[in-house]
Amino acid sequence: MSQFWSPIVHDLVPYVPGEQPKVRNLVKLNTNENPYGPSPKVLEAIRLGVSDQLRLYPDPNATELKQTIADYYDVHEDQVFVGNGSDEVLAHVFHALFQHDAPLLFPDITYSFYPVYCQLYKIDYQTIPLNEDLEICLQDYPVNNAGIIFPNPNAPTGCLLPLAEIEQLLQRNTKSVVVVDEAYVDFGGETAISLVNKYPNLLVTQTLSKSRSLASLRIGLAVGHKDLIEALVRVKDSFNSYPLDSLAIKAGVEAFKDDAYFEQTCQKVIQSREWTITALKELGFKVLPSSANFIFAQHPEHEASVLAAGLREQGVIVRHFKHARIEQFLRITIGTDEENQQLLAVLDSLV
Ligand SMILES: Cc1ncc(COP(=O)(O)O)c(C=O)c1O
Repeated sequence: MSQFWSPIVHDLVPYVPGEQPKVRNLVKLNTNENPYGPSPKVLEAIRLGVSDQLRLYPDPNATELKQTIADYYDVHEDQVFVGNGSDEVLAHVFHALFQHDAPLLFPDITYSFYPVYCQLYKIDYQTIPLNEDLEICLQDYPVNNAGIIFPNPNAPTGCLLPLAEIEQLLQRNTKSVVVVDEAYVDFGGETAISLVNKYPNLLVTQTLSKSRSLASLRIGLAVGHKDLIEALVRVKDSFNSYPLDSLAIKAGVEAFKDDAYFEQTCQKVIQSREWTITALKELGFKVLPSSANFIFAQHPEHEASVLAAGLREQGVIVRHFKHARIEQFLRITIGTDEENQQLLAVLDSLV
């Protein structure tokens, strides 16, 4: 507390990111990073970008990256927005598109940054409960709202909504913006970007942090109608003209161009997820179906907090949320096969 703080800062309850431990040799399965590095072509582009040209400001519009993404998804460049991680893109979405009279709607169990943005930008919100299987039920979302946002697959559950259900929501909910946060879609979902030309109120956000192994570079994007994108650009240009540095722009371009590497990495993660789920079930865990690069699992006879502490003692870190309805679950990121084996060996000793 300080007399110099503005009133809004006194009440802010910031988002708490997963731990980035200083200790080496931990099996780090707590923040949904990709266990495989970025494409070699991405690394080469970064190497080539390290030159005396770094004295210049980067392209404020990141045009090359936006054009590459537009080509990839077969949309126009003015339908693409990029920012410093999808967290920043989402912050601009909340600021630019969700401040209206009715409440913003999102699931009761979801990405915990959403209520933080609501507090920061003074947006009224209402949470809609997941069903008893911890799935999002879009038919429960009333049409009187200032906007709707949900991740697909949802986080931290990993559960996926079929595209048909999202389209049914868009047919009903025409008066406010619907944002589908596709941070994990490449691990088994189908992107809603195919619907943006049909529904001018649909905005899809994605990140290069997960499926394209670039969490450290901070690159996020949004695709939607050009009017929605213009709102984001207006906020961005009133906040930071250069959210992406020149190395991130070059790396992002190569990450989208090297499709073969991307496909191969995603498939490896998906295959590891499937055998890890089978092995967890053999240890007595109940595991939600996952279309993400993480698993949400609980053991009927063991406290999740005790399991998380036991794993940590033996060098494996996973995420445990002390939130109602999910406090008996562990969220476990899929690692390399070796890391997943280590996780299972420790859990075997604990249960
Ligand atoms: C659902 C969801 N959306 C967005 C993000 C933000 O990703 P980034 O800011 O790294 O692009 C995350 C990160 O964990 C996430 O889980």
